[in-house]
Amino acid sequence: MKVWIPHEAGLALLGELPPEVTVEVAEQPDKLPSEVADVRFWVPPFLATSDSAALLRELPDLEVVQLLSAGADAWVGRIPDGVTLCDARGVHDPSTAEWVVTAILAKLRAFPAFAAAQARREWAYDGVAPTDELSGKRVLIVGAGSIGTAVRDRLAPFDVSFTLVARTARPEQGVHGVDELPRLLPEADVVVLLVPLTDQTRGLVDGRFLAAMRDNALLVNAARGPVVRTEDLVAELATGRISAALDVTDPEPLPADHPLWGMPNVLITPHVAGSVRGLLPRAYRLVGDQVRRFAAGEPLINSVVDGY
Ligand code: OXD
Repeated sequence: MKVWIPHEAGLALLGELPPEVTVEVAEQPDKLPSEVADVRFWVPPFLATSDSAALLRELPDLEVVQLLSAGADAWVGRIPDGVTLCDARGVHDPSTAEWVVTAILAKLRAFPAFAAAQARREWAYDGVAPTDELSGKRVLIVGAGSIGTAVRDRLAPFDVSFTLVARTARPEQGVHGVDELPRLLPEADVVVLLVPLTDQTRGLVDGRFLAAMRDNALLVNAARGPVVRTEDLVAELATGRISAALDVTDPEPLPADHPLWGMPNVLITPHVAGSVRGLLPRAYRLVGDQVRRFAAGEPLINSVVDGY
């Protein structure tokens, strides 16, 4: 059977595979390495576009699509019957959690303002320092999956308190349900979005959600852009009442003339929370394990059900 992966470097990272498995590199959907027949296991490019998804229909023997991303939103609803979709749950926990901690600290300690002053060669802090601080803050994590708990574990030494929210409450684990957000939002200094993009979470952060956030609160989006209604966010940010740190936006890429770029209370990075040098070794360790399971007829892990 054939396995197609998108990175040449992945070949050396998969570990030992059974002899019946042939791995080929299919970097681009328009540059295929061989005939499509017998491709049973396909790993599309990381954060693949709809061009890549078109290949789904060209692979007659496909049985498994293994994503390199934690988010499966671009694929849900497009997978042919009988094909299993698996995400890369776990692979991005360290990198995305690091991005969240970095973004919160950078924003609260006003690093963007100091970086701008550095670019002007100015030893300037008037109007910036004293800055806010993380110590003592109440952090609300919306999305209590593996990245949400990784964020909590990494923030724990900063003397903060946490509330975690998931689709449904898990009282035995101290996790609240999403229906409790109207009560929880006004109590949080930092609100971190880590939910998958599904029909339920699209537009979750709307004008009402934002209005319920307390004055000077920080919204951090490391989930997906469309979880937030961009127009509502722009309107709330324009009041100067809250601030935001965004790794994802809607649309993406954010056009050069978009109002978010010019807002002083927003920190934007271009969807890079998971793009670290450790990504490929971690991701291909998962892919190798999944191919071995598949070849042995064992159940796969991380299969995506109902968008989760
Ligand atoms: C992911 C991402 O889904 O990095 O893995 O956005």
